[in-house]
Amino acid sequence: MVDVRQVWRNPVFGAIGARVYDAVLDRPAIARRAGRAMWGCDTDLMYAAMDIVNEIPGGASVLDLPVGGGVTLRRLDPVQKVRYVAADISDDQLSAARRIAERHGVPGVEYVRADVVDLPFSDDEFDLVVTFAGLHCMPDPGAAIASLARVLRPGGTLAGSCVVAGVATRYDRQIQALATVGVFGPASTAEELQGWLADAGLRRDEFECNGSLAQFVAVKS
Ligand SMILES: C[S@@+](CC[C@H](N)C(=O)[O-])C[C@H]1O[C@@H](n2cnc3c(N)ncnc32)[C@H](O)[C@@H]1O
Repeated sequence: MVDVRQVWRNPVFGAIGARVYDAVLDRPAIARRAGRAMWGCDTDLMYAAMDIVNEIPGGASVLDLPVGGGVTLRRLDPVQKVRYVAADISDDQLSAARRIAERHGVPGVEYVRADVVDLPFSDDEFDLVVTFAGLHCMPDPGAAIASLARVLRPGGTLAGSCVVAGVATRYDRQIQALATVGVFGPASTAEELQGWLADAGLRRDEFECNGSLAQFVAVKS
């Protein structure tokens, strides 16, 4: 079994695979076609969910994990006075996120290399945690959610998305293929994802399957 964490940390994969992914997401027209073809998902809904980062009040603290190439980060308004922590297991992705922040004029972002299940943050440290399109790339998404919930303050919000199995056979085949090469972790279903959110003490506010991309907003009790 390929270790998905090694794949994402691998500099060759970071230089090629992750860059291609980020380049696609950087081009909304191409991303729209790719999202529809690969996952049956409407990328406009995906991007709209990420806009939660520019709805938070000044003084709040945000953890964006995995930041990847900064797809969510670039939606932050440069004048927002928030503490924004961008974390990822991959140095290449953190460098890509840093370049994006510089290009978009977003100052003061903290970049942290970390595995989701070993976070160097205190309990209840963040008002908002965003985890878009990453849980399916992790070896244990349930443990990842529990870890993200730990660093969220009571009343704080976890918003994110995850590719889930069980929506259609053709997407399940892609999930399986990506898991085989170590880009995805083990497949999970929408029901499992909802169970992990509940187990982590998160009350579900929104949950919808956008094609095979489950999008959710949940609040820590
Ligand atoms: C498909 S990208 C998604 C990134 C970004 N949030 C987005 O919406 O495009 C998945 C990211 O998960 C990161 N990742 C994979 N396993 C991780 C782990 N165990 N802990 C932290 N980040 C991880 C990868 O390095 C990669 O940047």
